[in-house]
Amino acid sequence: MQEECQQAAEILRGASSIFVMTGAGVSAESGIPTFRGADGLWRDYSVQDLATPEAFRKNPRLVWEWYRWRQNIIIKAQPNPAHYAVVELERVSEHFLLLTQNVDNLHQRAGSSNVLELHGNIFRVRCSDCGKVSPSPCFAEASCDVPTCECGGLLRPDVVWFGEAIPSTIWTESLDYLNTAQAVVLCGTSGVVWPAAAIPGIAKELGIRSIEINLEPTPFSSTVDVSIMNKAGEVLPRIVKALSTAA
Ligand code: APR
Repeated sequence: MQEECQQAAEILRGASSIFVMTGAGVSAESGIPTFRGADGLWRDYSVQDLATPEAFRKNPRLVWEWYRWRQNIIIKAQPNPAHYAVVELERVSEHFLLLTQNVDNLHQRAGSSNVLELHGNIFRVRCSDCGKVSPSPCFAEASCDVPTCECGGLLRPDVVWFGEAIPSTIWTESLDYLNTAQAVVLCGTSGVVWPAAAIPGIAKELGIRSIEINLEPTPFSSTVDVSIMNKAGEVLPRIVKALSTAA
């Protein structure tokens, strides 16, 4: 692993602008269940059963129970060394963008500042009728309320569900930055959900050198320049350390 970390550090050392994309795996060592791993189910429901507008229309209370369960886990969780290594990488980079698929706010809690939330944030709510966005009421896990807006509409988590469009400004801003990047780091994502899954291929087409850190092979493991199959909380700090010591 050390050799690959050195190779990754070499790629980052030569880059004045770095694009990092993270997924649920970067929060796994904070105790946050990933979506497609062994811990990915909740009461035998998969994320595809719950994270959809149809599921919310059909049973808003069930969807809110799942989100309350996740909110309560996340509130008790702490950022882990992977999150802090991303903060350090941002600090030492001339130009830096973090695109996260995660909605858990842990990157921001760790201190990341230039962050784009591709799938929203679990600690915001949005009215299903008027679209007003506000901070999410954090429920006691046992509560079964479905919060409502002043307009009477049901409040839903301000996240992107399956079948919904990504906020166009965030996607455009991500691609604009990717076009300027000299290195891409892909960390803790299975790379199967679009359009985030397009990022590795776009980077390849642009001739940008890329690094993957994940626990299992992904559709882009064979096309990245360095693929490190190990825990983000162990690998990212090693890469950042190698980057700073050899400078
Ligand atoms: N370190 C590195 N990688 C890890 C770790 C870890 N400690 N633990 C798990 N992983 C890897 C898993 O091997 C898996 O490939 O993280 C990946 C997580 O994949 P998913 O659970 O599919 O999560 P993600 O890729 O973020 O899903 C994308 O799908 O469900 C939607 O909106 C949801 O943002 C999510 C999107």
